Amino acid sequence: MPTAEKATVQDRFEALRTAAEAHQRACNPDHRPTIQIGLATCGIASGALETKAAFEEALAERGIAACIHTVGCVGHCYAEPVVVIDHPESGFPPIFYPQVTPGKAKMLTHLFLEEGDPRFEHLLGATIPNDLIPSVTDFARFNREARVVMAHCGRIDPGEIREYLAAGGYAALAQALQTPPEDIITTVATAGLRGRGGAGFPAARKWRLARSSPDPVRWVVCNADEGDPGAYMDRTLLESTPHQILEGIAICAYAVGSQRALVYVRAEYPLAVTTITSAIAQARAMGLLGADILGSGFNLEVEIFQGSGAFVCGEETALIRSVAGYRGMPHPRPPFPAEKGIDGHPTIINNVKTLAALPPIIGNGADWYRGMGTADSPGTAIFSVVGDVLHPGLVEIPMGTSLRTLIFDICGGIPNKKQFKAVQIGGPSGGCLPAEFLDTPIDFDSLQSAGAMMGSGGMVVMDEDTCMVDVARYFVDFTQKESCGKCTFCRIGTWHLLEILTRITRGEGREGDLETLETLAEDIKAGSLCGLGKTAPNPVLTTLRYFRDEYEAHIREKRCPACVCRPLTAFYIDLEKCARGCNVCEGCCPVEAVFITRQRKRAIDQEKCVKCGECLVACPPEYDAVRKVSPPGLAPVIARPPQDD
Ligand SMILES: Cc1cc2nc3c(=O)[nH]c(=O)nc-3n(C[C@H](O)[C@H](O)[C@H](O)COP(=O)(O)O)c2cc1C
Ligand code: SF4
Ligand code: SF4
Repeated sequence: MPTAEKATVQDRFEALRTAAEAHQRACNPDHRPTIQIGLATCGIASGALETKAAFEEALAERGIAACIHTVGCVGHCYAEPVVVIDHPESGFPPIFYPQVTPGKAKMLTHLFLEEGDPRFEHLLGATIPNDLIPSVTDFARFNREARVVMAHCGRIDPGEIREYLAAGGYAALAQALQTPPEDIITTVATAGLRGRGGAGFPAARKWRLARSSPDPVRWVVCNADEGDPGAYMDRTLLESTPHQILEGIAICAYAVGSQRALVYVRAEYPLAVTTITSAIAQARAMGLLGADILGSGFNLEVEIFQGSGAFVCGEETALIRSVAGYRGMPHPRPPFPAEKGIDGHPTIINNVKTLAALPPIIGNGADWYRGMGTADSPGTAIFSVVGDVLHPGLVEIPMGTSLRTLIFDICGGIPNKKQFKAVQIGGPSGGCLPAEFLDTPIDFDSLQSAGAMMGSGGMVVMDEDTCMVDVARYFVDFTQKESCGKCTFCRIGTWHLLEILTRITRGEGREGDLETLETLAEDIKAGSLCGLGKTAPNPVLTTLRYFRDEYEAHIREKRCPACVCRPLTAFYIDLEKCARGCNVCEGCCPVEAVFITRQRKRAIDQEKCVKCGECLVACPPEYDAVRKVSPPGLAPVIARPPQDD
């Protein structure tokens, strides 16, 4: 490409960046304190809007001049609403405050912003190492992460393109536009980028297929359907760093020779839809999308398609049907979407995280990316770690990090002194791995050999109080409801799986059920067309493999070892421990099953009890008198005294 053309693209980009940096400086010329609040969905759900309003009110009341800076999600969901206060005049570095309620917001406005006291008992740490106070980087939850795709999450305002530009955004696109498209594909191939939507397919291989097509019309689709229960990585990226995704889409489109792109996002993500829609408009207004991007001659229009929330619509061929206006149903491949997709044109479908990894890869080079992760799974992985962990949230780690490091070091381990039991990885069709797999490295191939899969990054951690039969039932219930119904094995086979699992959890399991589950599971895998049916039996097969004794206890002893399955459990009150006169359990029972014994203690009427567990929670810890047992016959039966006694 001639040098003059290169200068044009670079000059236009530099002008945008310089203007963005000037805008940033002008926002706070007199270095006022800044209050940074995370306003992605998780923050809002935890009350961040009320916290923001409380800061605004307190600042106005006290006449303090400070800037409120709204950002996306920083990934520390256990700490929401998260607030970072930078008060240069106090002499302290920026400070990270967790769980900032409106009351705390008012207190910090008064005591920190007005009087310079950062209130040590409320802070988690400074955001940077310093000599005055501990830093958050002292904690594994911060220092064991490798933020590449999430580098800007919770740091910039997702609604302001100039913040992304000032932070180095769109530089990789400018660089790409000055590089031959084939070289971009080579860089992505050398980096070893594998798709983050589940299968781990090499991105460059798919791109080459589309690029080599004689059809001049090609599409790029950003797959943000994200239907796995407990997974919210893609939503968070859309809400927190939408321009990084758009930049990745533009790099991909340029590389494969596409001028049309689509973000397929479920309508249940209203904030993500609003944020990405506004980001597209801003990028277009700045000449970073639309016609003749940065004067390069490359055109790209990006539009949004809101899916209706069917899990199967995340499958690429179903997604294409859904975009065409039909009911989302997978169809056989080949032809692959990269050959024949939207309106019959070559269509590259990549996950949000795959596309968002492109700007750092192009900006820093393939070797830099390969420097993280393992030889076959380079780079980082983002997980939404939820369930029984102390510090749930989004975590970005180098591939190859062990499950133990992620769950125990980074996410703080299991709360309430409970034991780890299992981890479900890879969404509803992933596998449940027991403790002996905790040292498994997290990468595409190791997880698959262990019987689980990377999936798109959903991870549910379970403690000793989890019934693995019930877990299998829960996930099969999900996949059964989400089956599109096209294949008999998926449609009816999952229904039978669910029926058997439900019977077992009700104490109605029969000899032979486990063998039926196993053969049925194999038949469903073999007889299903798409990944939904092919993987739906995974939770059943892995729990049968690793927790078979629990199934057997349900069937043969009518006992749920974790005391979860209601028909197999009972509650009773230990009369030795029950405090005479404490009336808490009686007051909380919704069905009046707790009664007063002749000794003025409390007991449970087993006929009336609906096993809600309210009394177990309510009984004061110093008495700890309510017991839960399985099988139910272990609960002593105490007769209710006659009413007039
Ligand atoms: C039932 C089902 C649901 C899927 N849902 C998603 C999804 O929500 N997001 C996604 O990126 N990929 C999903 N996939 C995988 C896609 O079919 C496709 O492989 C992926 O979007 C390709 O992008 P990648 O190469 O960047 O991973 C799903 C697959 C199946 C079988
Ligand atoms: S496997 Fe299930 S979800 Fe997939 S096409 Fe067949 S019926 Fe539909
Ligand atoms: S488990 Fe629920 S229904 Fe049963 S006694 Fe306790 S509070 Fe009442």
